[in-house]
Amino acid sequence: MIRFENVSKVFDGNKKAVDSVSFTIPNGEIFVLIGPSGCGKTTTLKMINRLIELSDGTIYINDEKVSTYNVHELRWNIGYVLQNIGLFPHMTIEENIAIVPEMKKWPKEKTSKRVDELLRMVGLNPADYKDRKPGELSGGQQQRIGVARALAADPEFILMDEPFSALDPITREKLQDDILALQKEIKKTIVFVTHDMQEALKLGDRICLMKDGEVAQVGTPAELIQKPANEFVRDFIGGKGHSLENEFNLADILSPIEEPLDVDRAYIPIDSTIHETLSALAHEEIAIVKKDGTPVGYVSRETIIRHLAGTRAGETG
Ligand SMILES: Nc1ncnc2c1ncn2[C@@H]1O[C@H](COP(=O)(O)OP(=O)(O)OP(=O)(O)O)[C@@H](O)[C@H]1O
Ligand SMILES: [Mg+2]
Repeated sequence: MIRFENVSKVFDGNKKAVDSVSFTIPNGEIFVLIGPSGCGKTTTLKMINRLIELSDGTIYINDEKVSTYNVHELRWNIGYVLQNIGLFPHMTIEENIAIVPEMKKWPKEKTSKRVDELLRMVGLNPADYKDRKPGELSGGQQQRIGVARALAADPEFILMDEPFSALDPITREKLQDDILALQKEIKKTIVFVTHDMQEALKLGDRICLMKDGEVAQVGTPAELIQKPANEFVRDFIGGKGHSLENEFNLADILSPIEEPLDVDRAYIPIDSTIHETLSALAHEEIAIVKKDGTPVGYVSRETIIRHLAGTRAGETG
């Protein structure tokens, strides 16, 4: 469990980068930190493994203050995947993955077995990749190595800072699927930073939306969609200013009406924007969609959450 209690960070002479943030992440959860550039996501993440010292408040890991841990032991128990991959270019893939096990002085044999196991886990054949240098791998493959390295010494917690943002959309989706599949097996506590709402909705058990160093809202994807705390949350989820907004087409996600209609239903026109659709669904489980005044189908909260998360029905648990 990771718990933030009124945590703030002030860098020298600046305004608060993180401002009295509180949340609790239970074990086994994927907790997504999202928000505009500069809102304090990376700072929040780095205070967990003390790459940045907090200015005020308390962070607990398994009920113990992070400040009381030996900093090396703390970091060994927290895997960290950096945004720009952060592999050492002069070291082989095997050496890169083995960094923490070596620091922990694992026997060579155990480390070597673990490297093979991890490479297979992230879908790369050990014999083909172990001895290569990072420069001889594609961006997506390097990112997999970054994930393997973070998992190497079997940490309880994993911090991932925009791990997939540099990748093309197809590789990115594949790695998102892989993380979800992997998480079913390993059940780690993962804090995942992104600025992509679709990614957040797809991966997050819960999402923490930040703004100007503060928490705007913490909740499940459904909660953020159903009960946005304010206009900022509603706009952010609706992808205002993002591609989501322009690509949205209500006609693509209609379900057929199979029963007589309840007159009290919410009605929305077929050309509604994603904002209008989300607003209608904020108060209702489903909304009836009309074209030229005639009902042509309905849209439910579940459908729209799946749509926003870019997954097909039945794909996520
Ligand atoms: N070492 C530092 N010294 C001074 N200010 C800093 C430092 N690191 C971050 N900041 C400031 O703190 C604020 C939050 O930065 P942070 O890196 O946490 O944002 P972020 O949400 O991760 O942004 P992005 O999405 O662009 O990565 C920003 O205003 C940033 O300029
Ligand atoms: Mg950042």
